[in-house]
Amino acid sequence: MSERGTRYPGPITEAAFHPHSLIAQGFAEDAALAEVLDRYPAELFDINLYDYDDEGQVSLRTGARGRLDGGQLLEAIQQGRLWVNLRGVETGWPELWAAAMAEYRQIQQTYPGLKAVKNAGQLILSSPKARVPYHFDAAGVVLFHLRGRKRIFVYPGDEAHLPERNMEQVVARQTTEELPYTLAFEDDARIMDLEPGQALTWPLYAPHRVENLDRFCVSLSMDFQTWPSRFRNGALYTNAVVRSQGGAPRFTDQMGQGELALRWAASLALRRMGALKSRIAHFERDFEPEVGVTDGARALGG
Ligand SMILES: [Fe+2]
Repeated sequence: MSERGTRYPGPITEAAFHPHSLIAQGFAEDAALAEVLDRYPAELFDINLYDYDDEGQVSLRTGARGRLDGGQLLEAIQQGRLWVNLRGVETGWPELWAAAMAEYRQIQQTYPGLKAVKNAGQLILSSPKARVPYHFDAAGVVLFHLRGRKRIFVYPGDEAHLPERNMEQVVARQTTEELPYTLAFEDDARIMDLEPGQALTWPLYAPHRVENLDRFCVSLSMDFQTWPSRFRNGALYTNAVVRSQGGAPRFTDQMGQGELALRWAASLALRRMGALKSRIAHFERDFEPEVGVTDGARALGG
């Protein structure tokens, strides 16, 4: 694959830090976070608990929002081993979103040719020992770090680390599995420690994982689509349909922009027709956040 460390084109050729001023604007303080947790719509919460075996393989438990008020929930995250994601910051916390978009525009200017057509944000509050498993996002990402310290591992975007067949499955929502992962990948990781006041971005689709460094962490993860990423995602969806019907589609990185655009257009029609039903079932929730218990999680059910 290319020496740029990714199979995918785009002006972001390697992971890079950028400064941001969101902390000085007061978005990272306990009082602001407790207030936003208190009023954030329950349906926009993802609450996860990740466990890993000796081979680095992950298992996931999912939490319900539960009944804690904002301050208690913040305490449970700070004491526990939780990963809490607030989706839809665009509407859920418009003041933070406006400030983050101003920062994004400055970062985008440093990459000639980069032009987002859609941005979306998730506010992530995570416990001191939380770790996010190996995965890729079908988008560009800018991770604005607000509190704590985290270590980001970014891997090459080649077929070994990012198989197209798995990308198709993720884009078409045919699996809850992430990418295949082995500990041998660690030899290929680029490792960066992220401090408050820094934002990190990386090449579109680059696989990555995250480890918190023993401190409560707050980050705003902003993802963005460009026209090339839209075309690529659409082509991956169309290829997933072709493969489900017994076909063997070519890699999207062997297709020119014209063919990618045609496959994107086809994906719009295929999605409308419901060619592939999402196989991601609604989870039974395993736990609710709780203060003063192991992992900050109280088990639900029998
Ligand atoms: Fe990610």
